[in-house]
Amino acid sequence: NSMHCELEKLLSTAKDAEAEISRKDFEGFKNLFHRFLQVKGPSVDWAKIHRPPEDSIQPYEKIKGKGLPDSVAASLNKLVVVKLNGGLGTSMGCKGPKSLISVRNENTFLDLTVQQIEHLNKAFNTDVPLVLMNSFNTDEDTKKILQKYTHHRVKIHTFNQSRYPRINKESLLPVATNVSTTGENTEAWYPPGHGDIYASFYNSGLLDKLIAEGKEYMFVSNIDNLGATVDLHILHHLMSQPNGKRCEFVMEVTDKTRADVKGGTLTEYDGKLRLLEIAQVPKAHVDEFKSVTKFKIFNTNNLWVSMPAIKRLQEQNAMDLEIIVNPKLMNPRYGGSEVGVAVGQTLDGGLNVVQLETAVGAAIKSFDNALGINVPRSRFLPVKTTSDLLLVMSNLYSLKDGSLTMSERREFPTTPHVKLGSSFTKVHDYLTRFESIPDMLELDHLTVSGDVTFGKQVSLKGTVIIIANHGDRIDIPAEALLENKIVSGNLRI
Ligand code: UTP
Repeated sequence: NSMHCELEKLLSTAKDAEAEISRKDFEGFKNLFHRFLQVKGPSVDWAKIHRPPEDSIQPYEKIKGKGLPDSVAASLNKLVVVKLNGGLGTSMGCKGPKSLISVRNENTFLDLTVQQIEHLNKAFNTDVPLVLMNSFNTDEDTKKILQKYTHHRVKIHTFNQSRYPRINKESLLPVATNVSTTGENTEAWYPPGHGDIYASFYNSGLLDKLIAEGKEYMFVSNIDNLGATVDLHILHHLMSQPNGKRCEFVMEVTDKTRADVKGGTLTEYDGKLRLLEIAQVPKAHVDEFKSVTKFKIFNTNNLWVSMPAIKRLQEQNAMDLEIIVNPKLMNPRYGGSEVGVAVGQTLDGGLNVVQLETAVGAAIKSFDNALGINVPRSRFLPVKTTSDLLLVMSNLYSLKDGSLTMSERREFPTTPHVKLGSSFTKVHDYLTRFESIPDMLELDHLTVSGDVTFGKQVSLKGTVIIIANHGDRIDIPAEALLENKIVSGNLRI
């Protein structure tokens, strides 16, 4: 009830058009908050979790083995590509939407996505649209940029995900003082995770519009996953299932390596496929969850979902996504907290808040005939850090029609392990430290730490470790070849 009153108070600060959007958002939030209050104990019972049955996760090779029919264009015309575009580039030190960061030859994530779909539409004479799910953080900047694609052969639609209030960890009430997202309320609002896509897509009216145009499936993925291209074999597999046995949801999963033990995995629970995230796992079972032998695969977040099924589940209110409680420490300057230690405030003036989120893959359990497909690692090429960026900018990959593929000149199909230190975290700093991107075709491992710069046309082979101690600087000269080498301190090569 006090939550209801607080939300009404916030609503009264909204202007006309804003009020309507906020009211819709608040309805969704109240629903989520209500479910959050009802949750008691862990969201899963570990004893009920099983390894998924053999045939519920099919190898991609098997799907591909069936070949492609001539009618693939007809299937493409029933497809919509959706990119999750709610996130900012903050973790890579960039302002604005992450999708607008340049990743290869001056092309941004968004440019590459548009090029990929345009290529498909031209090659098959089809009309696959691109749909962007924006958030209040990314909508304005994204829309400005979209004008540059007007003459491309891709229809681009956008819709906005919801905007929810962060709540004080102790009082469980919103920290916002009004509906504005600026000034003292800058950190008071958040986009509630990509699981918001189902309700927001439906509420925007765009889902209905696309269904009316004859669209049947959406292929949804993270915009920062450069490996998430439209796969014709998976599309054909979906379209060729007999009516009544239609697979309403495909999750592309891939084999875990030691680096991805924290990723969500597929399990069987109550006779259905279910996504299990590390946050849901009781402490005593975390090692078992991370095991590469018990749970062999993880979720790439490349998903194929039936659009009429989304509509049905939304209308039946049957989409039941587990709530992820994400604790945050808010900047003491924000949050409307008065001087002195208020409820939920830490001693140094920070404010402990939580944001309630959901994940798009968690919906798998609500759909009929859901399936996992174990795809090659190449379909999971996320760019989360500048270390990832170095890989995709290098000659390890070649770019064609907006898609990156591993160079045939690399002998081993695995990507090198790259770890750039904190002087490289921000894209701007990273760029100034490389006069050109080194040749990495024969690289296995690279660690760089401290104040290090690279001259033009450096080659890195095998294992290379470069460590500049505090106060030192190491400049790798132009055209240097570093092969199985450690460079550190004042040592010069
Ligand atoms: P993130 O980069 O935040 O997540 O978002 P992650 O680290 O890969 O891990 P998970 O999948 O959240 O566990 C992944 C994609 O989802 C979008 C981001 O823009 C990015 O493309 N996203 C995230 C939204 O569109 N809305 C959100 O509320 C959160």
